[in-house]
Amino acid sequence: MSDLPAAPAVLRPMTLEDVPQVQAIDQLSFSLPWPESSFKFELTENENSLCQVAVVDGRIAAMIVVWIIVDEAHVGTIATHPDFRGRGLARQLLAHTLLQAMPLGAALAMLEVRRGNTPAIHLYEAFGFEVCGERRHYYQDNGEDALLMTLPKLEKAHLQSFLPAHPDQA
Ligand SMILES: CC(C)(COP(=O)(O)OP(=O)(O)OC[C@H]1O[C@@H](n2cnc3c(N)ncnc32)[C@H](O)[C@@H]1OP(=O)(O)O)[C@@H](O)C(=O)NCCC(=O)NCCS
Repeated sequence: MSDLPAAPAVLRPMTLEDVPQVQAIDQLSFSLPWPESSFKFELTENENSLCQVAVVDGRIAAMIVVWIIVDEAHVGTIATHPDFRGRGLARQLLAHTLLQAMPLGAALAMLEVRRGNTPAIHLYEAFGFEVCGERRHYYQDNGEDALLMTLPKLEKAHLQSFLPAHPDQA
C-alpha cells in the first residue's frame, strides 16, 4: 500500500480538449506512445471505446481506454501521470471504467501487459486478473513478451470495492 494520500479525483469521460494532456501522459508513460490521431479516433469514431480520465486539481492525472468487444472489456491503455502515481488513481479509473462496460455487455476483461511491468501487473492482480497466455516478442521496441491477463467475471460489488465510498464522479 502506498504511503501517499489518496488523491481526490473526478472521474469523467475524456473529451477532445483533453487530448493534449492525455497524450503527454502517454508519452511520459510508454516507449511506444499512441499518436494523437489514435486518441481522436477513439473519441470520435470508435463507438465501442470507453475513454475516461481522472482529474485532480484541474489537471488530467490519469487516463484509460477500454474497448468493448462483444462480451469482453479489453483494456487498450491505462496510465497515470508520474506526478500522481501511487495515489490510487489507476485503481479507481480501472474499476470505474469496467463498471461502465458491464451494462454495455462486458462480462469479462482482458489485457496485454509487458512481462516486466511489475507496477501494472500488481495493479491487475489486485483486481483478480490472472495470466491466461503470452505473446512472445510482442513489443516492437525491445522484443519483450506480453502477458495476456484476464478477469474472467466482472462483478459489480467487487469493482465498486475499489472506489471511494462516495466517489466524486462527473
Ligand atoms: C501502472 C500504473 C498505471 C499504475 O498507476 P497508479 O495510479 O500509480 O496506480 P495506483 O496508485 O492506483 O496503484 C494501484 C495498485 O497498483 C499496484 N502498483 C502501483 N504502482 C506500483 C509500483 N510502483 N510497484 C508495485 N505495485 C504498484 C499496487 O498493487 C497498487 O495498490 P497498493 O497501493 O494498494 O499497493 C502507472 O504506474 C503507470 O502509468 N505506468 C506506466 C504506464 C503503464 O505501464 N500502464 C500499464 C500498461 S499495461
